[in-house]
Amino acid sequence: MASEKPLAAVTCTAPVNIAVIKYWGKRDEELVLPINSSLSVTLHQDQLKTTTTAVISKDFTEDRIWLNGREEDVGQPRLQACLREIRRLAQKRRNAWDGDPLPYSLSCKVHVASVNNFPTAAGLASSAAGYACLAYTLARVYGVESDLSEVARQGSGSACRSLYGGFVEWQMGEQTDGKDSIARQVAPESHWPELRVLILVVSAEKKLTGSTAGMQASVETSPLLRFRAESVVPARMAEMARCIQERDFPGFAQLTMKDSNQFHATCLDTFPPISYLNAVSWRIIHLVHRFNAHHGDTKVAYTFDAGPNAVIFTLDDTVAEFVAAVRHSFPPGSNGDAFLKGLQVRPAPLSAELQAALAMEPTTPGGVKYIIATQVGPGPQILDNPCAHLLGPDGLPKPAA
Ligand code: DP6
Repeated sequence: MASEKPLAAVTCTAPVNIAVIKYWGKRDEELVLPINSSLSVTLHQDQLKTTTTAVISKDFTEDRIWLNGREEDVGQPRLQACLREIRRLAQKRRNAWDGDPLPYSLSCKVHVASVNNFPTAAGLASSAAGYACLAYTLARVYGVESDLSEVARQGSGSACRSLYGGFVEWQMGEQTDGKDSIARQVAPESHWPELRVLILVVSAEKKLTGSTAGMQASVETSPLLRFRAESVVPARMAEMARCIQERDFPGFAQLTMKDSNQFHATCLDTFPPISYLNAVSWRIIHLVHRFNAHHGDTKVAYTFDAGPNAVIFTLDDTVAEFVAAVRHSFPPGSNGDAFLKGLQVRPAPLSAELQAALAMEPTTPGGVKYIIATQVGPGPQILDNPCAHLLGPDGLPKPAA
């Protein structure tokens, strides 16, 4: 009898991404195939990442999953879709394999634990990093080497873009089986080192309409969404890729803002309407436009996903002044937490001219809860150090240190 195989454990990390050409609407709910292509920027994992450990063992009697320390229902359809896809790809590889038997068993059950290094309560999109990390980690533990777009995508559409670093496009594809609906890197993270990203955390409230239900309602009722998908996005994808290739910041920034605005317009065109932006989001929009008008140049851009938090793009030489403008317009609350987290930003004064140009009375403190300063970052990583495993030798979550 062969001796018992040891546990196979793998731990990986994956990044958050923020779309500059938005995905909104599916043509196939089951396979998660979009009605338009999209393009995103991968954010640096020093500030925002998901870490996932997967362990397989013949001793496990069922698949189990823990998210941020709490056991969750592994029967959720999206989780099941990812597990099914990975096992299918592993089986396919095994069938094609003519060497030694592979060192893992497909019939083994898997335990998964996943944590975010940022508060889920901040309302930051965690599903993209979460499902990308799940797909990437399961692939390593089951020995799958093929493209993982279809695995991650079936967890959450935008997750396939978190499989790569830098600038990433998700090509919508045409086939009904979704084989050509894949993510691909447009440019690596080293391509535009001056680019900076500020996340303005506006509200920790849970949103009224989730993305899945929201986009379904938009597909059913919004003629503007159909027009956008068919007649606007194709040219925008090409233009955005050009702006990135040429590091044309004003072009990149203007298109990013216009595409965010059009996405939110399709939400308002949905019936009943959906609204993700709040009064603070709108003040941030005005602040950005006034800041740019004062400089006579597009130096800053905003984009908003399905929630009120703003993601700001700018270049390193503008970060300090823009943070000063945010601090002036949205005075920090007095909860003692740091207003600025992440990358260091040297304090800069706000000139009287800029202050006058902003023409904004400060709001009551705490409208913007805090800012996370980050930059473009790499794709998923494998952690070699066994100490990084979130599951112990018994396959259960390690007690938090
Ligand atoms: C507004 O990927 O969360 O952030 O595929 O239903 O899980 P599902 O939706 P999800 O939608 C993201 C929508 C968006 C725009 C984007 O990231 O492209």
